[in-house]
Amino acid sequence: MTPQLEGGTAFITGGNGGLGGEFARQLLERGARRVYAADLTAAPSADPRIVPLEVDVTDRASIARAAAAAGDVDLVINNAGITVREPLSAQDMSIVRRIFDVNFFGAVDVVQEFAPVLARNGGGALVDVCSIMSWNARSGAYSAAKAALWSATNSFRLELAAQGTHVMGLYLTYTKTPLTVALDQSTMNDPVDVVRAALDGLARGELEVLADDDTRAARAGLSGPVDALYPELSAR
Ligand SMILES: NC(=O)c1ccc[n+]([C@@H]2O[C@H](COP(=O)([O-])OP(=O)(O)OC[C@H]3O[C@@H](n4cnc5c(N)ncnc54)[C@H](OP(=O)(O)O)[C@@H]3O)[C@@H](O)[C@H]2O)c1
Repeated sequence: MTPQLEGGTAFITGGNGGLGGEFARQLLERGARRVYAADLTAAPSADPRIVPLEVDVTDRASIARAAAAAGDVDLVINNAGITVREPLSAQDMSIVRRIFDVNFFGAVDVVQEFAPVLARNGGGALVDVCSIMSWNARSGAYSAAKAALWSATNSFRLELAAQGTHVMGLYLTYTKTPLTVALDQSTMNDPVDVVRAALDGLARGELEVLADDDTRAARAGLSGPVDALYPELSAR
């Protein structure tokens, strides 16, 4: 079933952040009735259609409380994420686990708590914000967690089809948000373009949205030899 954005109600994790805030803004622009902005701190909004919720995706009880409070949700956006740039082979394991807790286990916990809400509301839709790093190993633990989320997104699609939930993965390269503020990256996506592509794709019922050329190339590269993905290896 093609998701209906107009008149709908969304729950966005990391809803105060760069992409999360933009998702909220554009959903309301497209006629959403209400957006629950779930984040570590409940940021008050001047817009009564934005309902702030204090949710830590690493705390299952806080997600359960949100699912009880937000029973009208028909779109869940698993958007909360953190990144740390250190080699996985030498990284402090508490940091590796933290990256998985937020980027992977948190997203799974959200789906487990909200799948029944979506089912009660006719199926609705789930969007998992993955990354180009789902297909590019250069970001160590973050890449591994986003690769796991890619796989989980495909599992959710298969498992939730029976209840009529449309499941879409969003993949993107560097995008100008607080997450990337410290990066020395000459070109970055504009979050406005990324979210527009995501919501257009969702409205069309797409299963994956690849938001930019680099991400499309990374996805296509998976069908070639692994050393073609990492030319630095042959330069050694
Ligand atoms: N920006 C990029 O280049 C890029 C590229 C590919 C994929 N992504 C993905 O896009 C998503 C959104 O990222 P963004 O760029 O918009 O980053 P962002 O501006 O840092 O937003 C992430 C949001 O998630 C929140 N968050 C962190 N830990 C949380 C937790 N345990 N529970 C609930 N919320 C939590 C953050 O809150 P605090 O600010 O309070 O920590 C922040 O509001 C992430 O999944 C990221 O991996 C981003």
